[in-house]
Amino acid sequence: MTGRRMHPRSEGSRGATAEVASVRGAVLELRGVSKVYGEGATEVHALLDVDLTVRPGELVAIMGPSGSGKSTLLTIAGTLEQPTTGQVLVGGVDVTGLSRNEQARVRRRSIGYVFQDFNLLAGLTAAENVALPLELDGVGGRAARAVALEALAHFDLADKASRYPEDLSGGERQRVAIARALVCDPTVLICDEVTSALDVSVQAAIVELLGSLQRDLGLSMLFITHNLPLVRSIAQRVAVLSQGNIAELGETAQVLTDPQAPYTRQLLADTPSLETATSEAGAGEADVAGA
Ligand SMILES: Nc1ncnc2c1ncn2[C@@H]1O[C@H](COP(=O)(O)OP(=O)(O)OP(=O)(O)O)[C@@H](O)[C@H]1O
Ligand SMILES: [Mg+2]
Repeated sequence: MTGRRMHPRSEGSRGATAEVASVRGAVLELRGVSKVYGEGATEVHALLDVDLTVRPGELVAIMGPSGSGKSTLLTIAGTLEQPTTGQVLVGGVDVTGLSRNEQARVRRRSIGYVFQDFNLLAGLTAAENVALPLELDGVGGRAARAVALEALAHFDLADKASRYPEDLSGGERQRVAIARALVCDPTVLICDEVTSALDVSVQAAIVELLGSLQRDLGLSMLFITHNLPLVRSIAQRVAVLSQGNIAELGETAQVLTDPQAPYTRQLLADTPSLETATSEAGAGEADVAGA
C-alpha cells in the first residue's frame, strides 16, 4: 500500500458528502446521543447525552468499567445501531435520519469497524472476507480480489489469502479483520478492544500496526481499550465512560497525569509502573481494569 488510498475510487462518487465534511472538519461526531435498551422494568439507559468528536487524523481512546456503555457508544458511532435520541454525523453528514441502506453505504465508505471477536465469516477465505465490503460496494469480483490481495500483503498475510479463519492464528485473524475494515479506504477506524483477545506477544505488533496506520494513512481512530500503555503510546485524547456518561474527556497526557474521574484514578493506581509499561507499548498491561 503506497498512498492514502488502498484502492482508487472516483471522488465524484462522494458528491456532497465530501464537500460538507471539508467544511465541518470532524470525521465523526456524536451530538447528545442517548441509548435506551428495553422498556419499562427492563429499561437500561446505556448512554446519556453523550457528545464526542473525532477530528481528522486523531486517535481517541474510550475507557471505562464493564457495562459503562463503551460498546454501545462504538456501535452507534459506527452506525451499526441507532441512538434513541441525538445525532451521529459522519464526515459532517447527519446519518441518523437515513435509511438502513443509506447508512450502510456511508458506513462502507467512511467507517472501518474491527470487532473484539473479529467477526470474520467462517465460510469465506481470508481474501474473500477482505473482498466482501468492496463487492457489496459494487466493485467487480476480480478487481475486489486484487485489492483484497494487496491489502493482505500490506499486513504480511499474502501467503494466508486462501486460508479459512479457523486455520489462522488469533493475531492473523485480527490482521485480516483490520485489512477488511480498511479495504474501502475509510476515514475512521473503530475498534472494540482490539488487543484484548490476543496473546500478549501479539498485542505489541497490533499496537505498532495501529500507530503506523495513523502515521502512514492519516487515519482517525476511535477505540476501546483497557490497555494504558496503548492509550499512552498512540491516543491523542481519552474519554472515560461511567454509567453511560462521559466522566472525563481530555488530552491523553492531561487525563493520565491529572485524572478527575474516580475510575481513571483507580485505573492508574492499579497500574504499578506506567512509565515502565509504556516503553513496552502494549505488552503485559492489558485488561488492568479486569473488565
Ligand atoms: N442489546 C442490549 N439489550 C439490552 N441491554 C443492553 C444491550 N446491549 C448493552 N446493554 C446494556 O447496556 C449497558 C452498556 O453495555 P455495553 O455493552 O455498552 O458496556 P461496555 O462498557 O462495552 O462493557 P464491557 O466492558 O463489559 O464490554 C449494560 O448495562 C448492558 O447490559
Ligand atoms: Mg463492550
